[in-house]
Amino acid sequence: MTLQDIHSLVDVENGTGSREIFVDHDIYREELKQVFGRAWLFIGHESQVPNPDDFFVSRMGEESVILTRDRQGELHVLLNTCRHRGMKVCRYDEGNTRLFTCPYHAWSYSTDGELVSKPGELVGVPGFKTHYHGQLDKQEWGLIHVAQMRNYRGTIWATWDQNAPPLEDYLGSFSLWLDSALNHRDGREGGSVVLVGVQKWRTKCNWKFPATNFVGDAAHGVSHKSVNMVGISPSASGRRDERPKDHYAFGWPDLGHGGLGFTPRLEEDWVQGDVFTKYPEVSKYFGEVYATRKKNLEGKTHYQGKGTIFPNMSFHEEQPRTIIVSHPNGPEETEFWRFYLVDEDAPDHVKDTLRHYYMTYSGPGGMTEQDDLENWAYATEASKGAISRQFPYNYQQGLGWSEPFDEYPGAVWCGNLVTEQNQLVWLKRWSEFMQGWEWEYLMHERVHPDARAFPLKVGDK
Ligand code: FES
Ligand SMILES: [Fe+2]
Repeated sequence: MTLQDIHSLVDVENGTGSREIFVDHDIYREELKQVFGRAWLFIGHESQVPNPDDFFVSRMGEESVILTRDRQGELHVLLNTCRHRGMKVCRYDEGNTRLFTCPYHAWSYSTDGELVSKPGELVGVPGFKTHYHGQLDKQEWGLIHVAQMRNYRGTIWATWDQNAPPLEDYLGSFSLWLDSALNHRDGREGGSVVLVGVQKWRTKCNWKFPATNFVGDAAHGVSHKSVNMVGISPSASGRRDERPKDHYAFGWPDLGHGGLGFTPRLEEDWVQGDVFTKYPEVSKYFGEVYATRKKNLEGKTHYQGKGTIFPNMSFHEEQPRTIIVSHPNGPEETEFWRFYLVDEDAPDHVKDTLRHYYMTYSGPGGMTEQDDLENWAYATEASKGAISRQFPYNYQQGLGWSEPFDEYPGAVWCGNLVTEQNQLVWLKRWSEFMQGWEWEYLMHERVHPDARAFPLKVGDK
């Protein structure tokens, strides 16, 4: 899209965004290419494919991909489409196999790195000798691999763009918060696994609603008022919206990430184990883990926060400790995938209580998530009309009050929890991708001639 097009759609400086970007089919098609075709995307967690030949079918934008572990233990991400005539070679959610055999004409692909030069290679073609006369170049027609793949503290990420920067650069200092979700509750690095399977559902809303909600929308507490009134926590006391004091919105304007979290701290932190007081055994577990955590983190600065990694991966570091990915299914539908994280070595009864709690809170049957889904679905529906789509959305809360926050390199804040700063940070990034900026500009190694600085207020707040 041209700069002109983008400026007519997203005005970061003045805090408005056209409804067209949430409903227009041409813009959506461009997003699949410019955003989902280039950004680093979350695929899954290594704990979902622990053994050789395990696979887990995931998504990148609208594309189906297979995360698989070969017999040498290496992970691969392959496009789930047969090179013959496109059929999905794998129609299961997860499993274990050495061979993906296409159901259409039975071409088969091996994942075994010992037998083939590259996992995903075409190894079986019916009629290879008789009908193809032995002339089909099998090495040419293997499954397509992603351009880059990375394992970050157990989470698997991939991009279709060979030129994309290393994932660590793409995450920037926002990775400190992601760590707080991925690390064991006792403070040690890693040590988390995905609990059971993935909860999946579809809602009639544009994928950008959840992405820009989880990037830091602290103003929508009113939507969850009924949940707060009944006390959603397992102890049936306290409110889900109670927050420790030093909790703010931080955004990374050069990278498009953002969330709600804490200033870096040396002392007190929060694992929210206290919500399980009604379950003595679970409470005991969190008490012990928290004591170890205090020892492990003593004297170390640590970080805690939840938010969205551009474009569509969001995470919560507290209870329920989850990852949610908002996969686009056309401009008016999102397929949500929620992954629930638990400490790998937590006792089974703790995991089981957490499973119940997570599902009471999140997902289509969860009391809290239902509120959000309704908002996003009705907003999408009410934005489609020929009349309604003429009127932009408003993102002006806290506009112009942001300033750099040096302890998180690259981040801005405005000393507040409730602000639309982060939605603008996200939209700024979206508009840079949609203009087709090359990576040197996207990573701000060089300043793009069309770059606009994120508006920072100079002077007193
Ligand atoms: S489409 Fe897969 S074998 Fe023909
Ligand atoms: Fe919400």
